Amino acid sequence: MVMAMVRKAVIPAAGLGTRFLPATKATPKEMIPVVDKPGIQYVVEEAVRAGITDILIVTGRSKKTIEDHFDRSPELESALERSGKQVLAQQMRAIADMADIHFVRQQEPRGLGHAVGMARAHIGEEPFAVLLPDDIMAVSNPILSDMVAAYGRHGASVIALREVSDEEVSLYGAVAFDPVVGEERLLRLRGMVEKPAREDAPSHLGIMGRYVLSPEIFECIAKVTPGAGGEIQLTDAMAMLLGSHAIFGLPFADGRFDTGNKLGWLKATVELALEHPEVGAEFRTALMEICRREGLL
Ligand code: G1P
Repeated sequence: MVMAMVRKAVIPAAGLGTRFLPATKATPKEMIPVVDKPGIQYVVEEAVRAGITDILIVTGRSKKTIEDHFDRSPELESALERSGKQVLAQQMRAIADMADIHFVRQQEPRGLGHAVGMARAHIGEEPFAVLLPDDIMAVSNPILSDMVAAYGRHGASVIALREVSDEEVSLYGAVAFDPVVGEERLLRLRGMVEKPAREDAPSHLGIMGRYVLSPEIFECIAKVTPGAGGEIQLTDAMAMLLGSHAIFGLPFADGRFDTGNKLGWLKATVELALEHPEVGAEFRTALMEICRREGLL
């Protein structure tokens, strides 16, 4: 069997960001910086590292700055060059050149499944990745590359999973699964439920914001009716796909930050600031001072 390569990705970025108000009143939540880059740039970079060359970002009204960020900015580039800041000018150009980046607008917020469904014409008949931009993977080897490799071995959809607590499970999609013979980490999924009540959760493995999907998902998205929160849910479409196609889950442990809420954003900021080549060392010293002052050390 010749497996199609995963070349394309979809980043749904049409959400309102109500968990991060007032910061997101006039700024798209995806554009809030983590250290010195908007969150969505980390996610695009992660996709590119996993071999993705074509990215469709699903936006909505008041998300124009996302388009501007991934566009060229000739005035800024020449101003930087004129003042001798060649490296910075080159870095600004590189943001637009990372991948073929396209945009489509979701006219109404009708759910994650609906947002992904907006990509149908662009994706066509090939497998594709979905990256939720609230989730930033602050590790050198993010899970998406392993998911793309697993797709290559099995030719079936693969979704990222992580252990969640009893209290957290109703914030996620949760899965039922079986082990896979000959695969150390991969699980074969038997079912999944979006935001289950604690007592109905099929397991404590929650769906995280990374997916590699086969194009048959679009047929299921078109068929599902509104689910949790009255929205068209991607989880419901995947549960339907399970009726005719295998879906695998790949659990991972570390490095995921939900930057769509204030606490998750703070944690991601500290973690990534510590690793930052320019400010990392000084930030570490400053953080130690704060910890000492607060009696934490
Ligand atoms: C979405 C998905 C959910 C998944 C979660 C991961 O929910 O619908 O299945 O577990 O992302 O962050 P949201 O957080 O958009 O409500």
